[in-house]
Amino acid sequence: MNSNVKINLKFNLNGKDIEITAGSSERLLDILRNKFELTGVKEGCGEGECGACSILRNGRLVNSCTIPAAAVDGDEIITIEGFSKTEEFRIISEAYAQCGAVQCGFCTPGFILATAALLRKNPNPDDEQIKEGLSGNLCRCTGYSMIMEAVKTASQNGAHIWRK
Ligand code: FES
Ligand code: FES
Repeated sequence: MNSNVKINLKFNLNGKDIEITAGSSERLLDILRNKFELTGVKEGCGEGECGACSILRNGRLVNSCTIPAAAVDGDEIITIEGFSKTEEFRIISEAYAQCGAVQCGFCTPGFILATAALLRKNPNPDDEQIKEGLSGNLCRCTGYSMIMEAVKTASQNGAHIWRK
C-alpha cells in the first residue's frame, strides 16, 4: 500500500476518543510515539519478536510494531500510560519493584501489560503458564526468575482484582 495515501482514523486511546489522519501503512507504534508522545511504548526489534512495543488492543496483548495504524479504526487501545492509572498497574508495578524485576526498565512496560493480560485470563498461573503468558516479551537484563516471582506476587496481592 502507498504510505502517502492519507486516511482518517477514529479510535479510543487510553479512554479518549481521538481522530487523526495517518499514512495508510504507518505503524501504530510510530503514531503512538510520535503523534501522541506515548514513549512508554518502546521500539526494540521492530519485528514482532521482543514485546517492547506491547499494547492492549480491545483488551488483547499485541505488538504495535506489526500493526498498521489503519487497522485500529474503531478499536480501543490502551498503552502503559493509560494502564498506569489503574489499580492493576499499581499492584503489578509494585510487585515488579519488590521482586527486583526491573533493571534498565526498557522491557518493563511490555512485561507489565503482558502480566495484566495473563492474570485477567488466569488469576493464578503456574510456572509453565507464566512462561507461556510472557513468551512474547524479552528482557536482556533480569534473568526471568525475578519476573516470574513478580507475576506470582502480583497474582497474590491482586487476588481481589483478578478473581472478581
Ligand atoms: Fe515490537 Fe519488538 S518492537 S515486538
Ligand atoms: Fe532491561 Fe528488561 S530490565 S531489558
